[in-house]
Amino acid sequence: MSTVGKAGLEDVVVSTSEICFIDGREGKLLYRGFDVDDLAEHSTFEETVFLLWQGHLPSKKELADHQKALATNRKISPKVLAALRLLPKKTTPMEVLRTGVSMLSSYDPDAADNSHEASVRKATRLTAQMPTLVAAWERIRRGKPPIAPNPRLSLAANFLYMMTGKKPSELEARTFDIALILHADHEFNASTFAARVTAATLSDMHSAVVSGIGALKGPLHGGANEQVMLMVEKIKNPLDAESFVRKNLADKGFRIMGFGHRVYRVEDPRAKHLRRLAFEVGKQRGDTSKAEMINTIARVVTEVKKIYPNVDLFSGAAYASMSLPTDQFTPIFAMSRVAGWAAHVLEQHSNNRLIRPRSEYTGAMRASYVPLDRR
Ligand code: CMC
Repeated sequence: MSTVGKAGLEDVVVSTSEICFIDGREGKLLYRGFDVDDLAEHSTFEETVFLLWQGHLPSKKELADHQKALATNRKISPKVLAALRLLPKKTTPMEVLRTGVSMLSSYDPDAADNSHEASVRKATRLTAQMPTLVAAWERIRRGKPPIAPNPRLSLAANFLYMMTGKKPSELEARTFDIALILHADHEFNASTFAARVTAATLSDMHSAVVSGIGALKGPLHGGANEQVMLMVEKIKNPLDAESFVRKNLADKGFRIMGFGHRVYRVEDPRAKHLRRLAFEVGKQRGDTSKAEMINTIARVVTEVKKIYPNVDLFSGAAYASMSLPTDQFTPIFAMSRVAGWAAHVLEQHSNNRLIRPRSEYTGAMRASYVPLDRR
């Protein structure tokens, strides 16, 4: 009799955690006890990062210090920028981020120190520097010089500024800030689990974040937001959206990106915020066609398959309305999720035991070795 649980570790509880709570039936998501709906309305990404790492909302002084640390650590070594310039221009932004984060550890003064204090400093630098890496690659691949970070702007506004060279509108900066808050953590999702497994070997913050980036890259996880926008670009005419979805869903194996979830049985609580923001930014730019098309797709998919939108469905429409390139959507997800990965690495290190599950062996037994010249 097999001892293997459901495939994909479905419903397996691997650890306790005080960071994130999901109620998949009610569609609730809490960070450290705070509803993401409240955080999306009242908080900032910087404050949410503090909450995830420290477990409580900051005082004015704590927030000011934390914001300052995140704003003044944005610069990356010119040597890292020089190394990025050596990469082939066709390298995808997610591959560049994976390589770039690995390089950042070579220039981090705390690289060899795994104490709690050093890990918080490394997490601060990574959260501050990942947007700089992402924006630098965007400029380099277009043959333009990277734009230096502006420490007077919020993390969200500064990223948009480094990407485009223009200060974003207030609505764009706040939309992006809310998107970062909503993506910051999500319990034991695949990339966070990968980061925790790496941390549990007593490896370091940068290595755990690189593991997280590798896992996030796949289209079943963070890569889905990019796939949603590629689908929208393929459909082209909003009037064709309904027939495209109905035709493709008739094929049993067809996966429509931005829908379904391992934990939620209702709409992902983050999706409604991103839907509203996609329409608001689209309206400001005078084009809501992408948001409308995705809304049509959502209506039809839910009607036909009884599966609901997840976080990746509308984020792309909001980013596309700000003229952000489609293949940067998943690196943007990583720029936010690094906050959650770091919180989980800190928690793992605070009470560590190696994560080492078993498999049930179903291969051959007692195979007898035949020398090469007799095979
Ligand atoms: N399109 C079509 N059918 C789907 C989809 C989808 N997106 N998602 C689930 N289903 C169907 C699936 O065919 C299966 O039906 P049946 O029982 O008839 O074979 C049933 O729903 C259960 O699917 P599953 O693959 O067993 O579910 P899972 O828990 O293993 O997978 C998932 C979860 C997110 C990988 C899956 O829903 C999916 O592939 N979604 C599309 C990719 C996506 O949007 N990923 C982002 C996830 S949320 C943010 C993040 O984590 O990054």
